[in-house]
Amino acid sequence: MDRRDFLGKALAYLPALSIVALAFPFYYFLSFLYGKKRIEIPLNKIDKGIVFFKDYGIFILKTSKGYEVFDAHCTHMGCIVNYNNEKKLFECPCHGSVFNLKGERLKGPAKKPLNRLTFKLVNNNLIIG
Ligand code: FES
Repeated sequence: MDRRDFLGKALAYLPALSIVALAFPFYYFLSFLYGKKRIEIPLNKIDKGIVFFKDYGIFILKTSKGYEVFDAHCTHMGCIVNYNNEKKLFECPCHGSVFNLKGERLKGPAKKPLNRLTFKLVNNNLIIG
């Protein structure tokens, strides 16, 4: 390959390389914005027991001791887990992982517990993020 061929091929790939080079910073910027999402739920919308908030992909457990908030996405591959009220367990419909009410993994293939989300209680609202 002579110098002219090399430069021709390099210029041919330049647009694709530019797109890849710009895509990564854009992706991280969007991830940053998504990660800062704030969720505010009035406490009067949270019944005792487990409540699933589909729009946010979270479960809120309300007990006499307070609240727990879990990300409803399974830690295996991200499917939304279901709550089995009879067994008092979170069950993943995709590959069968099971979690207890503390979010602890009881059965795989997930290796990690459900993600607990931190929150604040402010002016009769539960605020996440
Ligand atoms: S995504 Fe839940 S077990 Fe695979």
